[in-house]
Amino acid sequence: MGSLQINLTKSPKEKPARVAGFGTVFTDHLFVMDYTKAQGWHNGRIEPYDNINMDPAACCLHYGQGIFEGLKAYKTKEGKIQLFRARDNFERLNRSAEKLCIPQVDVEFMLEALEKLLEIEKDWVPTEQGTSLYIRPFIIATEPFLGVRPAEEYKLFIVLSPVGAYYPEGLKPVSIMVEKNYVRAVRGGLGEAKTMANYAASLLAQEEAKQKGFTQVLWLDGVERKYIEEVGTMNIFFKIKGEVITPPLTGTILPGITRDSVLKVLKKWQVPVKEYRISIEEVVDAYKKGWLEEVFGTGTAAVISPVGKLVYADVEMDIGDYTENSIARKLYDYLTGIQYGIVEDEFCWVKILD
Ligand code: COI
Repeated sequence: MGSLQINLTKSPKEKPARVAGFGTVFTDHLFVMDYTKAQGWHNGRIEPYDNINMDPAACCLHYGQGIFEGLKAYKTKEGKIQLFRARDNFERLNRSAEKLCIPQVDVEFMLEALEKLLEIEKDWVPTEQGTSLYIRPFIIATEPFLGVRPAEEYKLFIVLSPVGAYYPEGLKPVSIMVEKNYVRAVRGGLGEAKTMANYAASLLAQEEAKQKGFTQVLWLDGVERKYIEEVGTMNIFFKIKGEVITPPLTGTILPGITRDSVLKVLKKWQVPVKEYRISIEEVVDAYKKGWLEEVFGTGTAAVISPVGKLVYADVEMDIGDYTENSIARKLYDYLTGIQYGIVEDEFCWVKILD
């Protein structure tokens, strides 16, 4: 992939006085790299953030051949920048690439490029509590061609955005509707890939849920509409009678890196934890018996988000608050503690940038 060209902006933007919300402000520079069949991935460079110039016939605009990732850089109280499990994100990018017939990237080169970009943009990593610099790598098919086949030209970008909490609720419990009419993915489809199509497929259901006052929807499996899948922007966990349960990775849900971290932490804490196809009836039954102790989502953007209310048809499950003693709260404190350099990184998940 070769060397990295750097072209710095002559007119840096003013940084926001306060970071709030998610994904509306972008830093001064981005990383971009080209792919052609003849040259492979080449011409990796850091440039001033600007609009993309693209042929209107670019394949991604017509057939959605594109993938992305989401990870974060954190600032410690000593002013160091830390990355959390960045290698896992680029490895997942390659797995998504395989599903979408997109050429593989060199993970080592991508990590180096990201670290260089972060070195240039270090002053954009916010310091207020709960904030971070969201990192969005993505690949799009740019070949101008209207036939349906894998493109022969691509571009990979990394853009950066200082962010606060993903949900408007902040850290307060969210309210989720179990989706009965629409489905997100089926086995053999694209469900496990981080591709634009999965998010486009979630919009209508999400809008309808929002109109009814819910933050998001919880998807059921696309065949029987019985087994729990994920919440579109996060994986989901249930604590029932002391045991923590999450749906397994069967190809239809995103293999979340926060999900994986939570499983590893719970095992270390010796909390009983199980990955299995839990049905919505089982959750309702547990609720009715008073056994449903907690429900929470996990994701890079969402971190650990407690679910305060879960509604399935006419059953309203009031799960309650995010108490100090809840597992969700402990996981939030522990994982964010590692990410911000407050808690010892026993799992070696963090890379401190020089
Ligand atoms: C993330 O958690 O990084 C995501 O990609 C979720 C969402 C903002 C699309």
